[in-house]
Amino acid sequence: MTAKPTALQELPADLDRYRLPKHVAVIMDGNGRWAKRQGLPRIMGHRRGVDVLKDLLRCCKDWGVPALTAYAFSTENWGRPLEEVDFLMMLFERVLRRELQEMMQENVQIQFVGNLSALPQSLQDEIERSVNDTKQNRGIQFTVATNYGGRQEILQACQAIASAVQQGKLQPEEIDEELFSRHLYTAHVGDPDLLIRTSGEMRLSNFLLWQMAYAEMYITEALWPDFDRAEFHRALCAYQQRDRRFGKV
Ligand code: FPP
Repeated sequence: MTAKPTALQELPADLDRYRLPKHVAVIMDGNGRWAKRQGLPRIMGHRRGVDVLKDLLRCCKDWGVPALTAYAFSTENWGRPLEEVDFLMMLFERVLRRELQEMMQENVQIQFVGNLSALPQSLQDEIERSVNDTKQNRGIQFTVATNYGGRQEILQACQAIASAVQQGKLQPEEIDEELFSRHLYTAHVGDPDLLIRTSGEMRLSNFLLWQMAYAEMYITEALWPDFDRAEFHRALCAYQQRDRRFGKV
């Protein structure tokens, strides 16, 4: 949380504070392209991406958005070059260690979703520490999807529910949307109201498939390292202009 906040520290006057999304999810795309355009190695894009995420988290807190979820590493990202995967693992670990004190000061509650058991042990330890230390914080809920895949999440929920049925702890008729949601990694936080994806890609990429059923999507051409408060402001303006009907007229 050390990145200097950019301008726009107060909620912009054209936004209605009572109609802000309660949960924003972000697919942070374009780090590699940003770095390439600057003539830098791809990893520099990820490094810069962390600063942008920190400022977005702070901005959500400043403006009154109570939950932010970021897609940091997908189950498919293991297919990247080994050096990049290693760098990302090291970056996550270093960021968690470096930022813990500030997350405490800023009242951030951090949580992780995904198959964490496949991550390096030292990263798992850092994750456990940051989750435990921040669990009483109520300023903002920050969820990081790491080694996350939406289909895999749905399958593990199905397996847990099927096993409860097999053991006679649950009747098949008792399985409803609410129960299913409670078996997902995201049981601690409501579904996203707004999904932002940068770099112009129009895909969900296996992110929060169940939870995104009624999310409004906002796609910007900006690359993630260029996503600043002015961009977030535009995303929120677009969101507030949408007519959310949830399938009704
Ligand atoms: C996508 O850009 C970005 C990632 C796969 C990594 C994002 C991770 C961070 C910004 C770090 C977050 C850290 C913590 C601790 C929460 P890309 O590499 O796919 O870019 P490209 O599409 O231009 O190649």
